[in-house]
Amino acid sequence: MSKQTITRRKTVKDIVSAKGGEPIVCLTAYDAPTASILDDHCDLLLVGDSVGMVVHGLDTPVGVTMDMMILHGQAVMRGSKKAFVVVDMPFGSYETNSDTAFENAARIMKETGCQAVKLESGTYTAHQIAHLVERGVPVMGHVGLRPQAINVTGGFKAQGRNSDERARVMEEAKAAEEAGAFAIVVEGVAEDLAEEITKAVACPTIGIGASPTCDGQVLVTQDMLGYFDWTPKFVRRYHDMRNEIGKAAEAYAGDVRSRRFPGKAETYKLSKQ
Ligand code: KIV
Repeated sequence: MSKQTITRRKTVKDIVSAKGGEPIVCLTAYDAPTASILDDHCDLLLVGDSVGMVVHGLDTPVGVTMDMMILHGQAVMRGSKKAFVVVDMPFGSYETNSDTAFENAARIMKETGCQAVKLESGTYTAHQIAHLVERGVPVMGHVGLRPQAINVTGGFKAQGRNSDERARVMEEAKAAEEAGAFAIVVEGVAEDLAEEITKAVACPTIGIGASPTCDGQVLVTQDMLGYFDWTPKFVRRYHDMRNEIGKAAEAYAGDVRSRRFPGKAETYKLSKQ
């Protein structure tokens, strides 16, 4: 009998047990082909509501809907086989009460097949986190800079600039952990605060603009691939996609206009019956 290699997806246990070990590698993904490329390299793929900004051209994630998250979540699940997949709960889908949060989380999990959801975690969402976890939905928290709260904070600004703000971010993280979050995204905070949070909570922290002291790192894939002219300070660009796509489109346009494309090799010659 031939030996078959069974590919299994990482589970919530794999993520939780990575606390304090080799850093957890996470990138965002929104479509099947990209997910299939990232799958070999990432422990966790996040279908973030940043999709609204980096794919759909919105200014903030506030306009992102359940249907958008489900469509992109389905694509990422089809494209990946190994990574643990988390789908963001969009603005307005979990804040009102625990029952609405559960209905929406269950819909995301049933319709995409993803393994967990993420929601932005002020202390006001601790109740929802506990409610979801008790009912079988693994939840990832998200503290610090919370993009869905952009209209209150007035911009994508690093959080924890004074002692009150630092205390609030720490309180958010502890509330998420105590409510049962299996991991917490910590976004846009200074290194010492990220370190304090990582030490204070038993679950892994995944940093974005939150220093190497976190248990893992996440970046928006389009940012790290260089799709945009401007990226925040915390992004490292590993490629120059904007320029590369521009050069490819320019070459294609030149070939079409000069009739060099399509050539013989790209043209069907079907024999007539
Ligand atoms: O939506 C998203 O991509 C995120 C990451 C920035 C963590 O929440």
